[in-house]
Amino acid sequence: MINFQETLDEIYADLSSITTRGTVATYIPELACVNGDKFGIHLIDANGMSYSVGDADEAFSIQSISKVLSLTLAFSIRGDKLWQRVGVEPSGDPFNHLSLLEMENGIPRNPLINAGAIVIADVLVSQLKKPKEDFLSYIQKITNDETIDYDPKVAKSEKDTGFRNYAAANLLKSYGNIENDVETVLDFYFHQCSLRMSCKQLANVFYMFMNRGKCLMNNEYLNINHVKRINALMLSCGFYDEAGEFAFEVGLPGKSGVGGGIVALLPNKFCVATWSPGLNAKGNSLLGMKALEQLTTKTGLSIF
Ligand code: DON
Repeated sequence: MINFQETLDEIYADLSSITTRGTVATYIPELACVNGDKFGIHLIDANGMSYSVGDADEAFSIQSISKVLSLTLAFSIRGDKLWQRVGVEPSGDPFNHLSLLEMENGIPRNPLINAGAIVIADVLVSQLKKPKEDFLSYIQKITNDETIDYDPKVAKSEKDTGFRNYAAANLLKSYGNIENDVETVLDFYFHQCSLRMSCKQLANVFYMFMNRGKCLMNNEYLNINHVKRINALMLSCGFYDEAGEFAFEVGLPGKSGVGGGIVALLPNKFCVATWSPGLNAKGNSLLGMKALEQLTTKTGLSIF
């Protein structure tokens, strides 16, 4: 039997002395204020047992990790109609690139790059009565945790500097792939990215992707076929132009954010979240990737 706590302790002891931890994101100025020394891991297994090390209870900006959650809500409302407006192929490009979008007539490659997530934000703005409130309460319900909230400072900071996202949204609008006002859609998108959650809260919300669509309280949010598709998208598109490397080194579906968080899961076995704010050149947490590589190598547990 694998002792997850012992494994996490070993990984933490090995990695916490590393000083080369990449660079904290600065293109959203508010994210630059975060202490780059933070490092935490939280793992929850299929029986609901939890294991933690380091700063696993401290909330941080989940950024692009939120794209999986907005996609999940939109997919459960719209089903396969979603794929008329966004693709399911890896882009091989950084998360904020626009060149393919123009070449492919305003249909983003997948829902996990910025342009794709902006289309999903538009779907939710059309479908939800009070988009920001309804999305937040969806996350709070899945986790049974009302302390989860947006960070208005981060949302404002991103809005003030979000020139590429404005460019993407306007390009999408010019192709007819945004129904609502660009301002309204981006306001929702910036808020979803500003969600603050700890490793523990992230592992708890992503538990449903490991547990055939059922959350920790055993309520079903997705059917098994929808879970299959979201996990496939995380594996092929969750790390942008480093998705191949993540599959190669770690071997799990997962998603990263420029706040330094990564969440990954092995269906029916465990869900794990890491946080270390320093990013590698591709915008993924440097220490987080190392920690997850060690986790799947030490335990021999991966989808492969
Ligand atoms: O739109 C942006 O650029 C950010 N709100 C999210 C980017 C992000 O987290 C990319 N992930 N690694």
